[in-house]
Amino acid sequence: MPQLVRNLSGRLIGRDISYYPRLSSTMEVARDRARHRAPEGTVILAGEQTTGRGRMKRTWISPPGSISLSVILYPDISRLPHMVMIASLAAARSVEQVTGLKTALKWPNDVLIRGKKVCGILIENELSGSAVSYAIIGIGINVNFTVRRLTQIASFATTLADELGHEIPLTDLVGALLAEMDQLYAQAGADSIYREWRDRLETLGKPVTVTSGHTVMHGTAEAVAPDGSLLLRQEDGTLSRVIAGDITLRDSS
Ligand code: BTN
Repeated sequence: MPQLVRNLSGRLIGRDISYYPRLSSTMEVARDRARHRAPEGTVILAGEQTTGRGRMKRTWISPPGSISLSVILYPDISRLPHMVMIASLAAARSVEQVTGLKTALKWPNDVLIRGKKVCGILIENELSGSAVSYAIIGIGINVNFTVRRLTQIASFATTLADELGHEIPLTDLVGALLAEMDQLYAQAGADSIYREWRDRLETLGKPVTVTSGHTVMHGTAEAVAPDGSLLLRQEDGTLSRVIAGDITLRDSS
């Protein structure tokens, strides 16, 4: 890790990295540090998590060999919707750069390889009135382990080692990920970020089922708006805007 810290000096994201071999969840430590106004760009990185958290109150499995990190940011409220795009693009770009594997995005922010999930992103914000107190971007990447024996995720997840047939240096990927995030965060709000994120989404134009809270909707994922929301054309022809939810592709045959 000291090598990684040196390589990242001079940047905002990753200028301060705290590494913990084993942690409950990097989100908890990051939240505590953010409440004490840790410098923007501080990264909490764990070798493994014992109670990793996913979206929609799910568990995130993070054994040794995975990347689990949280980044503390203090963006303007107008930039908040772009955090999803920045995080998922940074993950997709860095995985492609380091491994040569092709990735796709599933709305809003899963990174997939050959249809299977390799990376998940969890963003937690605290607002004070109309100001952002902090935003924490949590990123989990399945790297150097095999999903075969992890029955909870084996059917829908993959790892980079499973895809490549060999392991990769974790520090290379963490370094590339933080460098991409740093570059993208500096341009937050740029139209090019929205366009790249939109163009990488594999779900657009396809029949999908969207689950948002207790609501389940069927239709076609018609478009995504610059604020990150999904425009769903429902089977009765109405167009619904979905701000947060989960999407599954349906068989179009
Ligand atoms: C998801 O797809 O459900 C999001 C998963 C997010 C996992 C990351 S790992 C680092 C950070 N710490 C956590 O406990 N969760 C996020």
